Amino acid sequence: MLLAIVALASVARARRLLARRSLAALLAIAVLPAAHAGDADARSAAGATAAAPAPAETAARATTTVAVPGHRAAIASAYPLASQAGEEILAAGGNAFDAAVAVSAALAVVEPSSSGLGGGGFYLLHRMSDGYDTMLDAREKAPGAATRDMYLDKAGNPIEDASVAGALASGIPGEPAAFDYLARKYGKLPLKQSLQPAIRLAREGFPLYARLQGGIQYKRQVLLRSADAAKAFLRADGGVPELGALIKQPELANTLQALADQGAKGFYEGAVAANLVAGVRADGGIWTLQDLAAYRVIERKPLVGEYHGARIVSASPPSSGGIAVIDALNILSGFDLPRYDSATRKHLVIESMRRAYRDRAIYLGDPDFVTMPLAQLASVDYAAGQRSSIRTDKAMPSSMLPGIESAPVGMQTTHFSILDAAGNRVAGTISINLFFGSGYMPPKTGVLLNDTMDDFSVKPGTPNEFGLVGAAANAIAPNKRSLSSMSPSFVETKRGLMIVGSPGGSYIISMVLLGTLNYLDGMSAADVVKYPRYHHQYLPDEVEYEQGALTDAEIKELQAMGHTLKLSGRQWGNMQVITWDFASGKVEAASDPRGEGVGLVY
Ligand code: DON
Repeated sequence: MLLAIVALASVARARRLLARRSLAALLAIAVLPAAHAGDADARSAAGATAAAPAPAETAARATTTVAVPGHRAAIASAYPLASQAGEEILAAGGNAFDAAVAVSAALAVVEPSSSGLGGGGFYLLHRMSDGYDTMLDAREKAPGAATRDMYLDKAGNPIEDASVAGALASGIPGEPAAFDYLARKYGKLPLKQSLQPAIRLAREGFPLYARLQGGIQYKRQVLLRSADAAKAFLRADGGVPELGALIKQPELANTLQALADQGAKGFYEGAVAANLVAGVRADGGIWTLQDLAAYRVIERKPLVGEYHGARIVSASPPSSGGIAVIDALNILSGFDLPRYDSATRKHLVIESMRRAYRDRAIYLGDPDFVTMPLAQLASVDYAAGQRSSIRTDKAMPSSMLPGIESAPVGMQTTHFSILDAAGNRVAGTISINLFFGSGYMPPKTGVLLNDTMDDFSVKPGTPNEFGLVGAAANAIAPNKRSLSSMSPSFVETKRGLMIVGSPGGSYIISMVLLGTLNYLDGMSAADVVKYPRYHHQYLPDEVEYEQGALTDAEIKELQAMGHTLKLSGRQWGNMQVITWDFASGKVEAASDPRGEGVGLVY
């Protein structure tokens, strides 16, 4: 039962298309795609050269719910219908892990631009009965026929769009396997039951909302290349459906039903698998039936760090998120932050980001393929060495910390946080990578495929389509998982805990870092999600910040220290947070005001 809706803030903004390819443009559509009204494909929209006029306004709302003490089941997700799907499953006797299946599956239907059966992600789990923490790695895998240079032409240059649009851009999905695994190993209810809300939503439809409509508009040209994707998301004449139009996905409902009836086999084998492979190959992709049949979720030990007595549990490789957040916190742990004025505090956080992102770029990849110095990167001694190069009064140019350039990855993803009444919890960040993924939907499946192959270094050492550069550790190889920034995390202290995560490509890491610091400073869940963000990722050597993240005085002081500051024309992220205060029993669930999600407490 929903107890109280506390905040419903409305922010309306007219947003203009950006005039050049930039990080801001990449992220802008991650959150507010409606601002990009052009019929652009992924690349030109990322470049965001002015095209069609932007719609007048895009509304962003926040809904935060605070529970009375004693009630502590909560869900925060990026769309109300998905939170409600989780609520339904909790009410039917499911636990947090069953609710994670219901929420993820509902998001696949109602937020198809961000995640789905055709994608993958990471589920961070905590089982209350024995305090067990684990991470389900449901990241997409490169097909067995993938090769290091598969997106390069004969001259060794990246082939336009090849790693972002169409079936060649798609890795073997992991999300359906995660549903089956969650239900069998951790859930209380059969998969069949937890998938019901999503099947109903897919069959009966849901009304088109502004952010999704903006995304459809933005990706229209790519969707038109796939007859089934066009049928699912466009009008019969190829136009964008009007707001409120019922989006029904009967084929997706059938695929979900096959999964419900047969478990993972219903997706990875049999008729669905045959249709997926036939469609992918007809569109120029390289999947085989064997790739699908061989897909497995891998259970991995999460990374655990400590910061001033708080325990940080976060995603391990092939996500770079946990290691980068813990590395940054280790660096900061040697500073008495409250002692400093606000500009110096932000300077120190920025310097910790610079160093953590550098390490991310150099060392990380799929742990099954590369050896990584994880113990070193997460160690306090290593952090002490990094800290010793930080001056409290001066920025250090990234060029003095040589390494490999890192840049934001991806454009759209989704996160949810769940706590059940028994104290089990899930932080899930799931994705199909760019907005609407590859844009390709194999006929008869209703499954929109990811373009997560673009998270690999398409050409190690050379920028790819989106300006990304990576190391050999993240080069393409058959059956390998690409490096991710997704950082589902738990922050635990003596007084309580926070479940946190967000979409936002490489910005995810700095968001989770700021969220952690803010929670530890005593901020409420609502304040954590709305906090104006700043970000430094080693290269480009600049601090990007949202309006309101820095005061005029801080801007002057940071510039005087040598930082290059860049006000972003956009906001980024769509953070979903649950907090639980042990003493009072108060649980708070907050959804980022930059999106239209909802936090519910029962
Ligand atoms: O795994 C990753 O890091 C990316 N595929 C995530 C993309 C993303 O978060 C884009 N969000 N706005």
